[in-house]
Amino acid sequence: MAEMTSGQFFVVDSMTTVVIDADASAEVARIADMLAAMLYLHPATARPRTARVVGPRAARVQRVSAGERLANSVSLRLAADRPSMRAEGYELDVQRDRVTLVAGEGSGLFYGIQTIRQLLPPAVENRDAINRQLRMPVGRITDAPRFTWRGSMLDVSRHFLGADDVKRHIDLMALYKLNRLHLHLSDDQGWRIEIKSWPRLAQFGGQLEVGGGTGGFYTQEQLAEIVAYARARFIEVVPEIDMPAHVNAALSAYPELNCDGVAPPPYTGIVVGFSALCPESEATWRFVDDVVREIAALVPSPWFHVGGDEVEKLTHDQYVRFVERAQGIVHAHGKQMIGWGEVATANIASSTIVQHWRGDSAHVHVARGGKVILSPGPRMYLDMKYDSSTVLGLRWAGLIDVRQAYDWEPATLRPGVPESAILGLEAPLWSETIETMRDFEFMAFPRLAAVAELAWSAPAVRGWEQFRWRLGAHGPRLQALGVNFYRSPQVPWSR
Ligand code: ACM
Repeated sequence: MAEMTSGQFFVVDSMTTVVIDADASAEVARIADMLAAMLYLHPATARPRTARVVGPRAARVQRVSAGERLANSVSLRLAADRPSMRAEGYELDVQRDRVTLVAGEGSGLFYGIQTIRQLLPPAVENRDAINRQLRMPVGRITDAPRFTWRGSMLDVSRHFLGADDVKRHIDLMALYKLNRLHLHLSDDQGWRIEIKSWPRLAQFGGQLEVGGGTGGFYTQEQLAEIVAYARARFIEVVPEIDMPAHVNAALSAYPELNCDGVAPPPYTGIVVGFSALCPESEATWRFVDDVVREIAALVPSPWFHVGGDEVEKLTHDQYVRFVERAQGIVHAHGKQMIGWGEVATANIASSTIVQHWRGDSAHVHVARGGKVILSPGPRMYLDMKYDSSTVLGLRWAGLIDVRQAYDWEPATLRPGVPESAILGLEAPLWSETIETMRDFEFMAFPRLAAVAELAWSAPAVRGWEQFRWRLGAHGPRLQALGVNFYRSPQVPWSR
């Protein structure tokens, strides 16, 4: 709920302070630091408050005793005493002389800061902007997300993205209050995570990418760093190792994973379905166990995604037995399994999460009491072209311009998959045709912003007509952030 008062503003100036309670936790202090960095790095407000201030952030966050009110301040507070505050929610009260942000937990404060950011002009994103005033309209906002799963998936296998690019994507996800980063870490064309007990997976299987260019992989230290960077922004990394198909990179690195004991050559094309782990080989099960164990130890989130899609080389019986045994291994390493829609046909636990992507059996999983993530290809596959003139991307799931991505209702998408069974939404960005960070961003933006609103906002406050105007006003912000976004003709972009 938002009530804004037109014509009145809170103005950030060089004397504005960020305020937290004297006994605020380290997490609240860290979030306050982020807000201070965001407000004060702007050149117009970059002068230190007093001559004594040394570090650029040190004195900007001030601790005050409970109940003390400071003029010209933005105060951040956790309110455990407000049980009505929903998970991840916040209340933001902007008055002319002070701003108050209250949340039930750290994530809510973080999202409230993202709202403050969006209420401020795009100059807040651009440290080089000069003589721009940071001010936000007076008003009150009470806000909380509709869905707990608000995800973005990067396919770093078909084309590899370095850790710094992934961190930049995390920063952009944070702006839109997304909270799950699914990393598709392996596929036919590349294995992207160091596995110490099977070193050739990354060292050999990670060398190439689609088209034969140089690939790459994350060391375990780099993945841990990505995970920590994401967590600091309330984003959980969800690792995926796709199996039993989409495994040519692994098969080419280790002959014993093939039923005939012969390693195939590396693959750099874009056909799917042709590879499969040998389900009868004990080496396969040592491999699955070692890979899940090493990654589970690196990624603290409770999930492990096993893929499970597009398996053409196994019988259905082999497939369901594979999925059930893989689930046992995931559980043995303390994780909850996630799989693409196809896994619903196996006898999986109701605690397993099924990720719907096409005409699959997600409803079967709902019937057994399970939860579903929606990633419907014709709405949410960010690798689909915007229109027939888009150079990048594929079109097998259709053309997806911004309205197609935005203007639909998750709860009525699939018969047998009601709102209560939907954990949330996730937009996959497959990278068969997407090579560079500029390409990734062109396909992701602005559609990822549409996905984020669909995942966050209740149907009653959503609407295409007003969304496209708000999105248009957002163009200068994306520009200030240096995002290579698609200027959809459906959107009235501000200059
Ligand atoms: C998928 O698009 N193969 C999940």
